[in-house]
Amino acid sequence: MSNTIVVGAQWGDEGKGKIVDYLTEHVDVVVRAQGGNNAGHTVIHDDVKYVLHLVPSGILWGDKLNVIGNGVVLDPIGLVEEITKLRGQGVTITPNNLLISDCAHLAMPYHKGLDKAREAARGDKKIGTTGRGIGPSYSDKVERAGLRGTALRDADALCQEVAERIALHNEFITSQGIEPVNADEVLPKLREAAIMLAPHVTNTVVALHDARKAGKDMLFEGAQGTFLDIDHGTYPFVTSSNTTTGGACTGSGISPRHIDRVVAVAKAYTTRVGSGPFTTENDAIGDMLHNMGREFGATTGRARRCGWLDMVLVHWACMVNGADELAITNLDGLDGLDTIKLCTAYKLDGKVINHPPSTIAEIERLEPVYEEHQGWKQDLSGIRNADDLPPLAKKYLARVAELAEAPVTLIGIGPSRDQTLRVC
Ligand code: GDP
Ligand code: IMO
Ligand code: MG
Repeated sequence: MSNTIVVGAQWGDEGKGKIVDYLTEHVDVVVRAQGGNNAGHTVIHDDVKYVLHLVPSGILWGDKLNVIGNGVVLDPIGLVEEITKLRGQGVTITPNNLLISDCAHLAMPYHKGLDKAREAARGDKKIGTTGRGIGPSYSDKVERAGLRGTALRDADALCQEVAERIALHNEFITSQGIEPVNADEVLPKLREAAIMLAPHVTNTVVALHDARKAGKDMLFEGAQGTFLDIDHGTYPFVTSSNTTTGGACTGSGISPRHIDRVVAVAKAYTTRVGSGPFTTENDAIGDMLHNMGREFGATTGRARRCGWLDMVLVHWACMVNGADELAITNLDGLDGLDTIKLCTAYKLDGKVINHPPSTIAEIERLEPVYEEHQGWKQDLSGIRNADDLPPLAKKYLARVAELAEAPVTLIGIGPSRDQTLRVC
């Protein structure tokens, strides 16, 4: 038995979906334990592109058990849309292969309205959320005012409760210039979603421990990334859950004692969606990647901000997550560059530091310290064996591993399932 957490080491969109898909072949159960449909995990297989938001990526393998754990905030209407789309792509989804925790909190239409209204109220200090109601859903959870998965079992009672809450929240929503939530439009959809999802709702803690005791292997599919973590990220420009490894345990009911391996995922460069400081941001890298048709958000379609690989962040992420291994994706994104920069430290007010400061004011004053690497200037996408990587790419990766203090064991050289190289 071996249980693995896959966690993002940057600001999300590191390619976790692709790495989870790659590792899923050898596991029995795939679990989402935090976040909601703010996540967008892209998996490309046989030229078909799948984008997973709430459904664990293991669903694409057919014979795996997929669990939406108690730590997730679940938008029932969004989940039904996602399931319908996946079924349209030929994916089998039944109450036997997709379980929903009866304790997962529900992200409701008024949470989305509140998300947009609170963003409007923040003005130029807005976070740049995905608008999926994530912050307000977790606020209700912590405030002990949330509705949970069990509520899906009584669609009429749920709709009645939600109608009351919509009426309550619409006043603030409209006061910020945001369209009120239209109860006549959303309640029938919510009712239909509750009826469709109710057979999937169960005590997933029991299901996961039954699987564990039966010797099944589990994979925890992290959403977002370390620097979007509510505690360890660039607060307040973060999401509202613990995206680091602890979140996988609290969000599933599986103890840290039963976790055997942590794989941190980082791109060979850095991206960020939404507001907040980004020390190595570089518009030229962004233009290059956007012109290649890359780095547009899987959930919102927004162009991602791009920059050089920040090893201060990746090192910190490997440390707080206890990474045993590092997966570096999108190495092929650097194929055309003469020179590649790697941020190895920061200067803060003239002093060299090796860790990310805690306040936004300090992070905004950081100057990156770069070392330069010669580019390999070669198309990597056709390589199928890590040994065949050009020496300059190997040198770059060796330096990344050294700075991260974690071995690079997986390398992404393209978006497809067969474009992940394992370092033996
Ligand atoms: P996630 O949220 O961490 O699962 O990542 P996203 O799916 O949001 O974004 C990662 C993007 O990079 C997607 O478009 C993937 O298809 C793509 N991708 C992942 N790994 C690689 C890689 O090694 N090379 C290339 N070219 N694309 C990759
Ligand atoms: P995956 O799982 C990248 C960002 C948003 C915003 C901030 C808060 O695909 O890596 P939220 O809607 O969560 O309140 O937004 O977090 N964000 C992500 N950025 N990838 C994600 O997920 C993200 N989920 C949230 O852009 O800056
Ligand atoms: Mg994503």
